Amino acid sequence: MDASNLMDKITALCKRRGFIFAGSEIYGGLANTYDYGPAGTELLRNIRNLWWDNFVHKRSDIVGLDASVISHQEIWKASGHTSGFSDALVDCKNCKLRIRADHLIENFLENLENQKKLKDYIKGLTIGGETSLTMDIVNKSVEEKKVEGLSFEQLGELIFLFEITCPNCGKREWTGVRKFNLLFPLKLGIIEGDQSLAYLRGETAQGMFTNFKNVVDSSRVKLPFGIAQLGKSFRNEITPGNSVFRTLEFELAEIEYFFDPQASNWEQLFVDWKKSMWEFVTKTLGVNEKNLQWREHTDKERSFYSKKTEDLEYKFPFGFKELWGLAYRTGYDLQQHTKFSHKDLSIMDSQTGKKIMPHVIEPAVGINRLLLMILSDSYTEEKDRIVLKLNPKLAPYKAAVFPLLANKPELVKKAKEIYEDLRKKFVTLYDGRGNIGKRYFAQDEVGTPFCITVDFETLENDTVTVRDRDTMKQERVKTSELINLIEAKIG
Ligand code: GAP
Repeated sequence: MDASNLMDKITALCKRRGFIFAGSEIYGGLANTYDYGPAGTELLRNIRNLWWDNFVHKRSDIVGLDASVISHQEIWKASGHTSGFSDALVDCKNCKLRIRADHLIENFLENLENQKKLKDYIKGLTIGGETSLTMDIVNKSVEEKKVEGLSFEQLGELIFLFEITCPNCGKREWTGVRKFNLLFPLKLGIIEGDQSLAYLRGETAQGMFTNFKNVVDSSRVKLPFGIAQLGKSFRNEITPGNSVFRTLEFELAEIEYFFDPQASNWEQLFVDWKKSMWEFVTKTLGVNEKNLQWREHTDKERSFYSKKTEDLEYKFPFGFKELWGLAYRTGYDLQQHTKFSHKDLSIMDSQTGKKIMPHVIEPAVGINRLLLMILSDSYTEEKDRIVLKLNPKLAPYKAAVFPLLANKPELVKKAKEIYEDLRKKFVTLYDGRGNIGKRYFAQDEVGTPFCITVDFETLENDTVTVRDRDTMKQERVKTSELINLIEAKIG
């Protein structure tokens, strides 16, 4: 399949079949916001439920939390977000395009034409004078097509050195690289001034740290244990498109796994978490492991408090990108909140009486990014049809029921009876529009594993045809066996 316009094809299918729409579309759209249609909403719910089931319900060492989206400004000072949670942006003075400096340079470096020109250009280049760049940095950026960890000054100098033009208007009139904080501030109530300032949370993690003591005191958790949370997070991001990959508002699924650094080996816990994440993506979600890889953060890229961070990356239509982050955050977060709140967040070991400030390993993934991965991984073109080969567990609709002919009341009546029966157990669709071929085509695109057709034989012997989405094979099945058949497939 031609990968070059794969993202466009997936985006078109998402709109056509009710997965994803542009946010505020009838008012001209609002950049980096998206709405989920009927099929997308079901798919999101299925991903969310599988994540929760796998990491909370199926484990005895993890409990759930649902903290407030609006949060005290001190939380974000303590976490370092008000000072350090920012992107390096540049503006085009001509067309006013605002873009992340790292994305601008990396997109430029990924362009093959530019790569050829740059190789010759760099051979003749010497760097000196008042620059913060070195030839090592320039060569490494060109070679790896990555600029992670570079300072704002170095990013600005690379844009200048590579003579990068604006992808929108083609001019080369950039402002300097500037820092933009990603947190969304909120003014609460009627109090004027700084006291009324709060933030929409930029991650769910902080809720787990600030409620750490509440959870310990109110439930029977014992180290090592995790707190899991799934909920909306907000970041004022500038992005180069790519559907829901990076949006202003997204759903984070995070676990803070707390442990006593004296009693548990963090390296072993890290390896165990890598295994759990990999298995969730490949086995539970059914994603092809050829499209996955681990990438360890370099020292420059990693947050200063983290001892080790690795990203599980997925090969999206626009390249390998971060899907799921795994970080050993040491004891930083609880220590910071202890310092800022003046509440001791250490806990007492019941056996030794010793005080412990737990350390944390954090797997954090965006549910919307998982959804985009699943759509990319299951999108298939076969001769004259497009099929979403979704794991049946994830499919928005498990079955669709059709009357062979929509103008035969006896067929319609029977089809509706079967539909009502199945609907009690599974999310099921009824479709009487168009001809059977068109109905199959529509259900293939939405990833429905089974299409059930009521025909004249049904009226005689209570059997229906069941068409399998992937093999397109049809078999005759007794209506009384339908539920078992679907259940067997979705597990
Ligand atoms: N507490 C750690 C944390 O939030 P992160 O790497 O900033 O780490 C975790 O985000 C995950 O959230 C990412 O791996 C990605 O799946 C998802 N994510 C981050 N920013 C996002 C955005 N703007 N839109 C959609 N998903 C996003």
